[in-house]
Amino acid sequence: MKVKDYKQELVARIMTLKERKKAAILAHNYQIPGIQDIADVLGDSLGLAKISKTLSSSHIVFCGVKFMAETVKILSPHKRVFLPVVDAGCPLADMIQAEELIELKRNHPEAWVVTYVNTSAEVKSLSDVCCTSANAINVVKNIPVKKVIFIPDKNLGWWVAKNVPHKELVIWNGFCYVHEQFTLNDLRQAKKVYPDAEALVHPECRREILEEVDYVLSTSGMLKRAKASSAQRFIIGTEEGLLYRLKNENPQKEFYSLGNARMCINMKKTGLDELYSCLEKEAYEVELQEQIIEKARVALERMVEYV
Ligand code: 13P
Ligand code: SF4
Repeated sequence: MKVKDYKQELVARIMTLKERKKAAILAHNYQIPGIQDIADVLGDSLGLAKISKTLSSSHIVFCGVKFMAETVKILSPHKRVFLPVVDAGCPLADMIQAEELIELKRNHPEAWVVTYVNTSAEVKSLSDVCCTSANAINVVKNIPVKKVIFIPDKNLGWWVAKNVPHKELVIWNGFCYVHEQFTLNDLRQAKKVYPDAEALVHPECRREILEEVDYVLSTSGMLKRAKASSAQRFIIGTEEGLLYRLKNENPQKEFYSLGNARMCINMKKTGLDELYSCLEKEAYEVELQEQIIEKARVALERMVEYV
């Protein structure tokens, strides 16, 4: 069988199974084109978790990484949530463990813990409030304390500290290995080649890049800006999967990766075969302790309060 025929047949089988199980397929903006094309909803990490609450389906297949599927489960505890690849994790989320956060809290008892969504459910459950790359500045600005423990991303933490100078931040030293690969030299070279382009980057990029670009945005923020801007060309500093969606939704505009395209290996582990197998075998289901769900949900709901 030709590859194209195999793929078409597989997509048809996925659709049939999805209908039979009344499942919804959610996919993060970094997923491969084949998954983006058949997802019911595409989005950023928090957007997908919020949308999952409103879906009538109680069977959710999440194509992305583990912390994102956990966030869906935390906000929709009565739904069954599945991650097609059990080891699709996020190295940034794994850079802080519950014991390390407990120690940090002990050392700074007067601080509130502001936790980026790229963390485990257990770490969220030990936090005062969560934030995303889109709202971290507002959350830190609005919470009623001066001292903040910000975890786990040092670049996002630095960006927040720069924009909220009257707060005192204790920043964890985590980073995303994908975004760390973009360099200031890459940015300067790209600007030389496309001097009229708008540069949009994710706040997980290195701080020297954040200082020299036009906009620092979450993946959904980049999608919005690309649509709204009158610019024709864009330099994009994030995982390469977003370029597919940007080009699809703005066919008349041009998008270039900031330097070489960078891939998140874990985001690319989910293919159509893995998605089919997940629907068929109902594996791997996200299971979290009720106590963790309860506490983590409080931190996530507080985020909305302080944005
Ligand atoms: P978004 O929340 O902007 O989708 O980003 C998630 C992520 O993993 C960035 O690397
Ligand atoms: Fe984690 Fe980075 Fe991959 Fe996002 S791109 S999921 S932060 S490793």
